[in-house]
Amino acid sequence: MKGDNGLLILGFGGHARSVAAVAIANGIKLLLFVDENARDGESFLGFPVRRDLERIPLGWSCIPGVGDNAKRKGQVEFARSAGWDLANVVSRHATVDVNASISPGSFVGHHAHIGPLARIGSGCIVNTGAIVEHESEVGDFSHVSVNSVVAGRSRIGSFVFLGTGATVIDGVSVGENITIGAGATVVESLSTPGTYIGCPARRLAQAGRAVY
Ligand SMILES: CC(C)(COP(=O)(O)OP(=O)(O)OC[C@H]1O[C@@H](n2cnc3c(N)ncnc32)[C@H](O)[C@@H]1OP(=O)(O)O)[C@@H](O)C(=O)NCCC(=O)NCCS
Repeated sequence: MKGDNGLLILGFGGHARSVAAVAIANGIKLLLFVDENARDGESFLGFPVRRDLERIPLGWSCIPGVGDNAKRKGQVEFARSAGWDLANVVSRHATVDVNASISPGSFVGHHAHIGPLARIGSGCIVNTGAIVEHESEVGDFSHVSVNSVVAGRSRIGSFVFLGTGATVIDGVSVGENITIGAGATVVESLSTPGTYIGCPARRLAQAGRAVY
């Protein structure tokens, strides 16, 4: 893991704290959150939060720390424009195949699994217990959330959110800007942006009901 000098986590919400917990479990000793909405004196597990980026020590790395896909993209762009070194935080309790790849600024939680030749984009979240199987792709700024499964040779576009426990069966594509509800099962390729629920996953109409 980069960030051996110290890790800056952009954000101070729930996801930032998960990233911190994994970084600490991995053995990192120096950690700082940055969140412009932080209150004076706030901290998490003894690590402080700052409202601005002044006085950040040289040589630190940073990682986006918000769950929202679009905001994570903003954080990655900000980090790149500021010349920051973008780190990945990958739990030591995750299994990442030696032939898998993970682009900078991504998080892989405890007990996640990333199979051979799988590719994870930049600014992604592969959350606790999630599985991205062999030869699958997860596009930039997507979130494969807790216990969800991307089976082999599937393609997940950018800015996709897979809810907790969702499944994408093997060989299927999920296009950009698609949200898959918790527990849904995607059994055929989806390209129309929107929110899909159920098994088989169907798009929610504007009125809030699935289009079957
Ligand atoms: C799918 C989801 C995004 C929809 O959110 P929403 O657009 O606010 O939709 P609503 O809550 O208004 O629900 C709309 C309808 O879909 C149903 N619904 C919502 N989520 C559902 C789900 N996951 N599976 C089945 N039905 C669902 C609701 O019961 C409601 O049905 P109704 O119209 O018959 O009353 C959301 O419910 C969801 O599953 N989010 C995933 C959260 C998650 O996994 N977080 C993990 C963080 S690590």
